[in-house]
Formats: sequence, C-alpha cells, structure tokens
Amino acid sequence: MPRRLLVTSALPYANGQIHIGHLVEYLQTDIWVRFQRMRGHEVWYAGADDTHGTPIMLRAESEGITPKQLIDRVWHEHKADFDGFLVSFDHFGSTDCDENRELAQGIYRNLKAAGLIELRAVEQFYDPVKAMFLPDRFVKGECPKCGAADQYGDSCEKCGATYSPTELKNPYSAVSGSVPVRKSSEHHFFKLSDPRCEAFLREWTQHPDRLQPEARNKMREWVGEEGGESKLGDWDISRDAPYFGFEIPDAPGKYFYVWLDAPVGYYASFLQLCRARGLDFAEWTRPDSATEQYHFIGKDILYFHTLFWPAMLRFAGYRTPTNVFAHGFLTVDGEKMSKSRGTFITAASYLQQGLDPEWLRYYFAAKLNASLEDIDLKLEDFVARVNSDLVGKYVNIASRCAGFLAKRFDGRVDGAALGHPLIAQLRAAADEVAALYEAREFGKAMRRVMELADAVNVFVDAEKPWELAKLDGRDADLHRVCTVALECFRILTLYLKPVLPAVAGKVEAFLGIAPLVWADVGQGLNADHPVNAYQHLMQRVDSKRIDALVEANRQTLEPAKAAPAKPSKPAGASSGPSTPNTSAGAAMSDAASHAAGHPHATDNPSIGIDDFAKVDLRIARIAKAEHVEGADKLLRLQLDLGPLGTRQVFAGIKSAYAPEALEGRLTVMVANLAPRKMKFGLSEGMVLAASDDTGGVAGLFILSPDSGAQAGMKVK
Ligand code: 2FM
Ligand code: ZN
Repeated sequence: MPRRLLVTSALPYANGQIHIGHLVEYLQTDIWVRFQRMRGHEVWYAGADDTHGTPIMLRAESEGITPKQLIDRVWHEHKADFDGFLVSFDHFGSTDCDENRELAQGIYRNLKAAGLIELRAVEQFYDPVKAMFLPDRFVKGECPKCGAADQYGDSCEKCGATYSPTELKNPYSAVSGSVPVRKSSEHHFFKLSDPRCEAFLREWTQHPDRLQPEARNKMREWVGEEGGESKLGDWDISRDAPYFGFEIPDAPGKYFYVWLDAPVGYYASFLQLCRARGLDFAEWTRPDSATEQYHFIGKDILYFHTLFWPAMLRFAGYRTPTNVFAHGFLTVDGEKMSKSRGTFITAASYLQQGLDPEWLRYYFAAKLNASLEDIDLKLEDFVARVNSDLVGKYVNIASRCAGFLAKRFDGRVDGAALGHPLIAQLRAAADEVAALYEAREFGKAMRRVMELADAVNVFVDAEKPWELAKLDGRDADLHRVCTVALECFRILTLYLKPVLPAVAGKVEAFLGIAPLVWADVGQGLNADHPVNAYQHLMQRVDSKRIDALVEANRQTLEPAKAAPAKPSKPAGASSGPSTPNTSAGAAMSDAASHAAGHPHATDNPSIGIDDFAKVDLRIARIAKAEHVEGADKLLRLQLDLGPLGTRQVFAGIKSAYAPEALEGRLTVMVANLAPRKMKFGLSEGMVLAASDDTGGVAGLFILSPDSGAQAGMKVK
C-alpha cells in the first residue's frame, strides 16, 4: 500500500552558512526521502530557513542591512548549497512568511483557549544603551565558579559550569559593552507542567514504537515515570521588543520566541507546498490523519521536537509527529570541526572547489546508522573509501564491460544471459537493502551493496572480458559476460540511487531506461533495446583536492602574534579586529598583512607559490560606498563578487577617497580572509591598496584591474 509521508529536516538559522555538519542531516533525510519515493510512496519533503530571533536581528544591524535583507540573501545561499548537494526539497521556504504567522498565532490562540497559556513577570538583564533585554548568550562576565573572564551568561567555556546570567560577576552586554540592569517584564508561558501536558508527553515520548531508545530514555528523565514526578517546567514563549519575529496576538510589544514559530515553519512550508500542488493541508495535519509525519533533527534539539512541538500540536488541535529521528554530531578526524584547522568546511567551499557532492553523500551514507552516535569524517578514509568503493568497485564494473556491448554487439544485451545466477543473487538482496534504508541503517546498506559489487567483480575478474575480446570465436562468451555484468550494474545502481541520484541519472541515460524505481529490480535490461555508448561516471578523489579544501576553509581567527599592535599604516583595510573596541587594521591576520603589502615587504621571508595560492584574490565591483558614523578612517563598502555574492568590507581609505568616487569601480579584494566583527559591523574581506607612509590623500591608492575584468574573477 502506498504510504503518505511528510518529511522535514531541521530548519537552518538564516545567519550562517551551511557546513558539512549540517549536511549530515540534510543528506541523511534526502537519502531516506529518495528511497521512499523509489518505493512508490507519496512523499513531501519540506524545509525552510529559521529566520527569527535576536542573533539574526543583531547580525543584520551589524551589516547595516535590515533583517529581511539578511534573510533573503542567506535564503539564496542556503538554497544554492542544498541544490548543489542534490537535497531534493519539494519546497524550501522561510519562517518569515504570512503562512507561518497565521499558523503560529492560531496555535497560540488555541493553546490559550485550552487554558495552557499563563502570564508571569520575569526579571532579566536589560541593556540600557541598546534598550533591549539580553538573551543569555549576549550577557558576558566573569564565571561565578572559576572567575574566568569573558564567559557567556549561561555557561563557562573554561570550567564547564552552568548558571544564570544574573550570577555572572561584573556582567556586561555583549551588544553594547554597557553594564546591564535587572528589569522585569511580563512573559507568556506555555504550561507544560499542566497535568494534561504531563500525561500526554509521558505517553507520547514513552510509546515503544516512537523515538530512538536513547531519546526515549532521555525524555523519561523529564517526564518521569507513570504516577511519579515530572521535571517539566513551563516554557517561556515570549520575548520583548525589539525582536525580529511575529507579534503575539493581543499583546503589543510581545513577540513569539523564535523556537515557538520555528517548528511551526515545517507546517508553513508544507502549507505553501500544499497550495502549490493542490494538496489538502487539513487532511495531512488533523488529529486523525492517516498520513505520516517525520522530523529529522540533531540530538541537541530533541527537547524542542519531542516535548514542546508535540505538546503544541496536540493541544492546538493538530496531529502529532509519527516519529522524530535524531542523529549525532559530526567530528572531523576525531575532533570538533575547527575553523583554525580548516575542518569547519562549508558546503559552498566544497562545491566551489569542484568536489563531487556525491562523494560526500556516499561517505556519509557509509557512516550513518539509526543511533544518536556521533559520526567521524576521516579525511584520508574519505578519499580511500570513495575511490575504493565507488570508483574501484562500482563504476569499475561498467567501465570494464559496457564498451564491448556498444562496440561489438550494437549496444544489445544477450537476452539468454539475463537468467544468470549472479543476477538472481543480486536481485535477492532487494528486500534486505530496502529494510536497511527504511531503518536508516545506511552504513549497513552500503556495506551490503559493496559486498554485491565485490561478487560481480570476482565474476568479471574470472571471466576476463578484455581477454575474451581478443580471442577468436569467443564472442558469445564475451556477450554473456558483459550482459551479466551490466545487468548487475543496473541493479547496483538502483540500490545506490537514493545516495547517488546524479550518477543514477547518467546510468539511466546510458542504459536508455526510465528512471529506476525499487520495483524495477526484477525488470532486466531489454535485449531488443540497445544501450548507448558508455560515458565515464565518476572521477577518483585526489587527496590533494581535499588538502586544498581544508586550506580554503582554514581561518586565522586570532590576530597574528608577530604583527605589530598597530601597523604603521595599514595599506588596505579589512576584516578588522576581533573585539569590537580595537581599531581597524590593528589585528590583521598573517594572510592579510602579506596580501596588503606590508610597508617592509622586502624584509619578509620569501614564500612559495602554495602560500601565495592560499590567498583568494578576486575582482570586486564596489556596489556601494558610504561613510561610517563615528569612524574617522573607515568607509563601508558593499562589494559585488559576481557569482560569489556580495560582501561588506570596512576599508581604511576615507582619507583618500570620497565614497561617491568609488561606486561602480572595480578593484581587488582578499575574498577568503576570515570575517571579523568590528565595532561598526562585520567585515568580510579586505580591499587591496598601495600606500606610502602617509596613507593620506596623496599616498593611498586602491588597485584597479585592466578593462574587461569582471566581478568575481580570480586574480592569480
Ligand atoms: O538548531 C537550529 O539550528 C534551529 N534553527 C533548528 C530549528 S528546527 C525547527 F524547529 F524549526
Ligand atoms: Zn568557569
């Protein structure tokens, strides 16, 4: 019976780039979704950007743009990353849409009508300069336990202690640097401690068919045993203005906390999809719906998805999720992803370096299982595994046999050979492989498929078609061997298609067959229908390209130790300092000071071409240039890098250039300089300029390319 499934992945925040840690989840979900589609089920995969909240509001402010401009830009970046990695959302929306506002407000109204919303005064830190309440992460101070300086308001990175912001010693606002004051305001709470919620969540989270065992046990700690104590507190769902989000109905100046409207965003995205495709949203979301609803998430956001979200849905009159599938975190070479080590690899950089997204899809698939365990990307193992499994085992079968069919047999397979026992052996694995996909045991599925590929290679090695091809009178054998191998290859392609959709598409084209679905496993190649000429399907990974990828992601976050506290005259200006109060140019990274042409360049040790190649120099069009209030040396530049998007850079060139003289000009920038948070906003690179020691009107010259250069071109 075809099933009807709504599937989601967690909604990424709209203020950061998609990185390989995120991709674990999107690729895991996408593989499962593609598998379900191949099984003939009705599957809708909905996603969206998670756009609200204080960090996004402040980030936009620091960039000098509106939150809407920020989330619009990031939406396009995220969409391009997902498309690049073949993540097949049926719809990718945004939580900042009318559908989400209406759904979130409707849910709130229903919860209120059910007596589950309560108003309570809450005392919080308030920034008197910015006139805003400060989320815990935006209050800093000395750890109350160990005294470490500059710790966040919720936990200490030094000793691991957790506390509330009011316990910090000498607190200050990370937004303005001012000393926060305590202030009370009225907040809206969702009463999770209500006996109805407790009883529901106990049943829902502890149901044996729902949640992974580790997740169920974790939730038991919160909901307690039947008849026992629960630790569920009420959930504060409101925030005070200024806040980028949705206003709470009948509560002026109060906004929904981002985590209230974020999961509702799953439904908002799906509602947009329903409207576009003529689906009945109510039929999918009502309490007695016969459809299924699955959320793939990271284990860090289990509470939101297995307590708050189901309770919101249940008491607002909707169905609850069929299941929530959590995965572990990604480590790289056994360690947390790190910007300084270059292992905080963004999706965009992977694609820009021209690496094949299906390599990573396969590698993650080979590592994934249904548990919450962390998974490790070992870079050397990545190269070895992709080369050995995909190229050495799988593609190798077709590349050794397909050519003979086209050249010697007019592209036609030998119908009589299709009954070969090896083919039967491969077909017999279909249910087992399907069950592994269904259970999200992708690693086991990949191992099983590679065992089958091994069996086919043993057959090809023994039969040696390349030798048969040279012998007289062995055409029939050659025809048989190549047919068996190619039919096996078709079956292996079918098994790998959820993971390798692009390769599968190429194989379908070369075999001249309709898109493979699971039921085609027994539909052997048609002897009357010629296959097309074989085209190479996948390249080997060269480990040098992985090294280059890591280099491209390596960021020098700290000021260079050897750099002078204040270089005599920063030639460019840049990604400025890491703390808001240091002056521009005082903390240029190594890469920056080299690229900027340090005043004493001739004293610098020589560098190799590899070092130079680390600096990504690009042609930039100065789309906008403006004065920065309160800055005497800086201009804010919006740089257009063509296909690479736009960047904001603060450049210390005010003494030499009027902003209007710069707009429209082409110049050269360092595009891979780590972004720096400055007092005036984020600086995302550095413009190159020549300078003498005065740095004034007569002594500062930004670079211009020769005519014909285009924004985004690489300078090398
Ligand atoms: O943790 C996160 O990245 C959140 N943006 C996930 C939201 S998932 C859903 F609830 F919207
Ligand atoms: Zn501490």
